[in-house]
Amino acid sequence: MAVSVRDVAVAASVSVGTVSNVLNRRDKVAADTVERVLAAIDELGFVRNDAARQLRAGRSRSIGLVVPDAGNPFFADVARGAEARAEDDRLSVLLGNSDEDSSREDRYLDLFREQRVNGVLISPATDDVDKLQRVQNAGIPVVLVDHELPGSTFCSVSVDDIEGGYLAVRHLIDIGRRRIAFIGGPSSIAQVANRLTGARRAVEEAPDATLELIEMPALTVLNGREAGEVIVGQPDRPDAIFAANDLLAVGLLQAFSMFGTLRVPEDIALIGYDDIDFAAATVVPLSSIRQPAQLIGHTAVDLLLRSIDDPDGDYERNVRFRPELVIRQSTSG
Ligand code: RIB
Repeated sequence: MAVSVRDVAVAASVSVGTVSNVLNRRDKVAADTVERVLAAIDELGFVRNDAARQLRAGRSRSIGLVVPDAGNPFFADVARGAEARAEDDRLSVLLGNSDEDSSREDRYLDLFREQRVNGVLISPATDDVDKLQRVQNAGIPVVLVDHELPGSTFCSVSVDDIEGGYLAVRHLIDIGRRRIAFIGGPSSIAQVANRLTGARRAVEEAPDATLELIEMPALTVLNGREAGEVIVGQPDRPDAIFAANDLLAVGLLQAFSMFGTLRVPEDIALIGYDDIDFAAATVVPLSSIRQPAQLIGHTAVDLLLRSIDDPDGDYERNVRFRPELVIRQSTSG
């Protein structure tokens, strides 16, 4: 097997990005590090992959990122992490917002192909493998962000949302709540469907617990507020809510303080998902299921560049992080 950039990095105890800098921008690297990397190159007999360099050479110094909601702080953090990794290789990130709309997504994919980006990161609005395969067949690597497409050849970086949904509802049951409502978005959003699957698994473990599903048109603060208005008016309202993301949870909190006398957590416990920065800053600090958003973005770019520089390398192509339960006032006491 050909010696890879990663092999050189390991031998010289530096990152793949540093090896890339020694090969492409030696002036940016400390002299002793350059010497160590060159020694490793000589010792291993590394020969740079000209096809990869040519591939990059024929590209703009950018990476395309398509997200379903640029207004969601979760994706802003994903983009920030992607930028941090891209800048290591002096690449820029071009951000496209699909608003969960497949035709908008197509326009951005076409634009990124015209711009000859090095690769595309995408949190897809649909599970349409064919259109992503067309991008990859055009020589532009695709990495799925916050999503997996089992059976496809795409690299992916995601979080186990089934485990995340289970953790959220298990926590509500552990604090004694039994009439639980799941405030979700369109079930076409895979992340939401997986969180609901996990929630159902937790309820199945507690025979005296029930799970009511309230599906909203979108995962936004406004939709959370509208769902909260409905719940405030329910005679047999739930005693706990799992919101499919923190934006919905923020809107629910607003509704409970604006339209009724429901106290959180006394009358109704509330947990969200993502653990965006606002979650800790809400009037009742929000419990949530944390996703490492910046790490997701950083890892996705790293995976993309490896797939260019070391297409046959020995590395994990489907990275899946574990969600983390973060307990705050909205489910305590
Ligand atoms: O895009 C909808 C949701 O899925 C976001 O809030 C984030 O949780 C993502 O994983």
